[in-house]
Amino acid sequence: MSSNFTFHTTAAEVADAFASELSGKNVLVTGTSLGGLGFETARVLAKYANLVIITGYNAERLALSEETIKKEFPYANIRKLTLDLSSLAAVRAAAAQVNTYPEPLHVLINNAVADIGPFKVTPDNLEFQIATGFIGPFLFTNLLIPKLLAARTETYAPRIVCLSSIAHGFGPGVDPAALGAPISERYPTIFGPYYETKSAMILFASELSKRAEGKLLAFSVNPGCPYDFFFIAEFVESELLAVIYTNLLDDAAAGSDHHGSPAGSPTTTRTRTRESTRPAPRVRVTRHFTRG
Ligand SMILES: NC(=O)c1ccc[n+]([C@@H]2O[C@H](COP(=O)([O-])OP(=O)(O)OC[C@H]3O[C@@H](n4cnc5c(N)ncnc54)[C@H](OP(=O)(O)O)[C@@H]3O)[C@@H](O)[C@H]2O)c1
Repeated sequence: MSSNFTFHTTAAEVADAFASELSGKNVLVTGTSLGGLGFETARVLAKYANLVIITGYNAERLALSEETIKKEFPYANIRKLTLDLSSLAAVRAAAAQVNTYPEPLHVLINNAVADIGPFKVTPDNLEFQIATGFIGPFLFTNLLIPKLLAARTETYAPRIVCLSSIAHGFGPGVDPAALGAPISERYPTIFGPYYETKSAMILFASELSKRAEGKLLAFSVNPGCPYDFFFIAEFVESELLAVIYTNLLDDAAAGSDHHGSPAGSPTTTRTRTRESTRPAPRVRVTRHFTRG
């Protein structure tokens, strides 16, 4: 096991480091459409796990995720599960399906989240974001607990991971009464339900872990802002600009310094590092920008 993970460590490198722990494990990840953290999680786990159950409410996107993982790891054991977390009936149906699987379930990763948007309620009369990001996963997890516990051995406690966010701290926390009877006035901005969802996920993982008394382990995790291709492209570009800019400044300074180098010519008198002039990296401009 590596203890040298850094800011730059990739998910694939972490999976490589835990290859022996992942071997033989059956893992279910919610929200695995291409481009999201759930997909990336499923992708890197698929290299070593015995079975990765990928989930989504859109059959086409689910198939695309499976196809993409299989292209990279043809031997991977991927199983698709239709799961719409915004509907309690759909959650019950999906959990019933999982409970028919012959394999035990070692790990459940509650990753899925709805897009941030205007206040709306589900057919179950729950706020949409909270229903998808917390109430659906809460029900799903509870329905799968017997299956998770069946994976328990003397040396292994099944795991439940709930994705949270730093955004949990931007809201007033969770109002249990409001969860069951949502009103738009409680959410003055469109982000309010997301903040509440992420707070609820932290409390859920914490309480579950406490009540399970070691029979299973529950965690909430803030993944931070991931680096992706948009980010990297932007970063590389800003790095290049920083280098050019630094050299221009150095050259200009050198033009009037005691070395007497003419402005605009190459110089060896750099005192400024690239870091000191590097523009602050920006987070990619997508819907992720609204999270964090
Ligand atoms: N990305 C970040 O910067 C960041 C920062 C902090 C925390 N997080 C947390 O990390 C997790 C993943 O974030 P992400 O940025 O990867 O999100 P994302 O790209 O928006 O992915 C969300 C996933 O949830 C699925 N989903 C949406 N509605 C669903 C529903 N009704 N039923 C089932 N699945 C549904 C989506 O499917 P479709 O794509 O098919 O709609 C998608 O696969 C979230 O819990 C988020 O709160 C992310």
